Amino acid sequence: MAILKVHRAAPVGLPGEAPAPADGPVDLIPGSAAFSILNSLLAAGEAIPHDCGGKARCGTCRIRVLQGGAGLSRPGPGELLRLAAVGGGSDERLACQAFAARDVELEIVGRVRAE
Ligand code: FES
Repeated sequence: MAILKVHRAAPVGLPGEAPAPADGPVDLIPGSAAFSILNSLLAAGEAIPHDCGGKARCGTCRIRVLQGGAGLSRPGPGELLRLAAVGGGSDERLACQAFAARDVELEIVGRVRAE
């Protein structure tokens, strides 16, 4: 089992409100090479957008890999195309397409609007 050290995104405020802090709290979540990081995050109750349901079509589930990227599955062509389409950085992955065989530290790029 891998451990996902997650820098959780702060919710986006309403229009006109001060921007949310860049760094949210940090959570430690079990990860696995058998489950996508998106599924691991959702199972742990993390707020991460996933508009297409994990099909690499929306790019809303982007994560930034801070450490341990070598422990992740390699990105496939569909993921690379989607990341390029949404302007993802070289340190970013789609959580729905990445699987963690070893410990990874990451930040959720997408934000979920506060209720
Ligand atoms: S959930 Fe849409 S690209 Fe990952």
